[in-house]
Amino acid sequence: MMEAVSVFHIGYVPVRGRLILAPMDGYSNLPFRSICRELGSALSYTEFINALDILQSHPRIFRKFAFLPQERPVVFQIFDSDPQRLLEVALRLQEYEPDVIDINMGCSDNNVAFRGAGAGLLRSPETVATIFRTLTRALNVPVSGKIRLGWDEQTRNYLQIARIVEDNGGALLAVHARTRSQKYAGRADWDAIAEVKQSVSIPVVGNGDVCSLGDVEAMLNHTACDGVMIGRAAIGNPWIFSGLNREAVPFDRVYFVMRDHLQRMLDFYHGEYGLVLFRKHARRYLSLYSLPPDLMRCLMTTDSVPEFLESLHLVGNYL
Ligand SMILES: Cc1cc2nc3c(=O)[nH]c(=O)nc-3n(C[C@H](O)[C@H](O)[C@H](O)COP(=O)(O)O)c2cc1C
Repeated sequence: MMEAVSVFHIGYVPVRGRLILAPMDGYSNLPFRSICRELGSALSYTEFINALDILQSHPRIFRKFAFLPQERPVVFQIFDSDPQRLLEVALRLQEYEPDVIDINMGCSDNNVAFRGAGAGLLRSPETVATIFRTLTRALNVPVSGKIRLGWDEQTRNYLQIARIVEDNGGALLAVHARTRSQKYAGRADWDAIAEVKQSVSIPVVGNGDVCSLGDVEAMLNHTACDGVMIGRAAIGNPWIFSGLNREAVPFDRVYFVMRDHLQRMLDFYHGEYGLVLFRKHARRYLSLYSLPPDLMRCLMTTDSVPEFLESLHLVGNYL
C-alpha cells in the first residue's frame, strides 16, 4: 500500500494524516494504538509515562512504551515537574528509538497537577522554557508538548506557553482546549485553538470534544489546525480514523475488530489479565446495542476467554 503524502512535519518527522489518537492512560496501549494506526490514526502517542517510574525502574513500565514498528511515527509522552529529571528520563527513553518525545502539560489529575507536573507546569512558564530549551538541545529527536488552556479561568496563559514552547525549540503543540480546573466539564474552546494556530508557526493539533467526522471537519475549518486529536470518541470506535462514523460500521466488522483487539490484549498482557483490561473497551464497542442485561453481565465479568467469545457471538442474535 502506498503511504499518503505528508500533511505536516514534527521537526523532520513527516506525519501522513490529520487524525490522531489522543494519549489516554489505561486505553492507548500498544494493542489499541496499533489498531487505530492501522485504521488511519496518523501518529501513535503512548499513554503518559511517569518519569519517576522510569528512574525507579518500575517492573512493568516497559509496557507503557513498547510499540510495533508499523506504529511509527511513535510519540513517547512523559510527565514530571523537574527539568533535570525529564532530561535524564528522555535520554534513557531515546535509546528505545521513539520518533518524538512529548511533554505532558495537560494532566488535570490532582496527584499530578498539584505536584507541578502535567497541567501544573502551566503555572510555571519559566520551567516550561527550561524543559524545552534543555531537552531540545540534548535530544536527537524532536520534542513536542501537549497543553491545556491554563490552570483555571483566571489564568488562561495558553498563548504565552505556546510561544515559549516554540521559542525554545518545541516542534509541535497539541492543545486540549480546556483549563485544568474544567477537567472535562463544559465545552472545549475551539476559538483558543485557532488563536494558538495563528500565534505560532510550529504545527498545532487541536483537541477536545471531537465526537464525529462532522466535528473533525468543523474543527479543521474553525481553527485551521494541522491535525485533530480524538480521545474519548475513539474508544469503541477506532473506525473514526478510517472516515466512518460509528453508526455506519456493520456488526460483523465490529465483531471482527473486537476479537482482533482482544487477541492483541491477550498477547500483550500475557493471558487473562488482557481480558480484564479489554472489558472497558468491550463496553464501548457494544454501547450502541441494547443487549439483555444477563448477556452484558457475562461479558463484563467473566474471566474466561472462551466464555467471553461465546457471549460475544450471541450479541449478533439481538441486533
Ligand atoms: C481515560 C483518559 C486518559 C487520559 N490520559 C491522558 C494521558 O495519558 N496523556 C494526555 O496527554 N492526555 C490524556 N488524556 C486527555 C486526552 O488526551 C484528551 O486531551 C482529552 O480526553 C480531550 O479529548 P477528547 O474530547 O477527544 O476526549 C486522557 C483522557 C482520558 C479520558
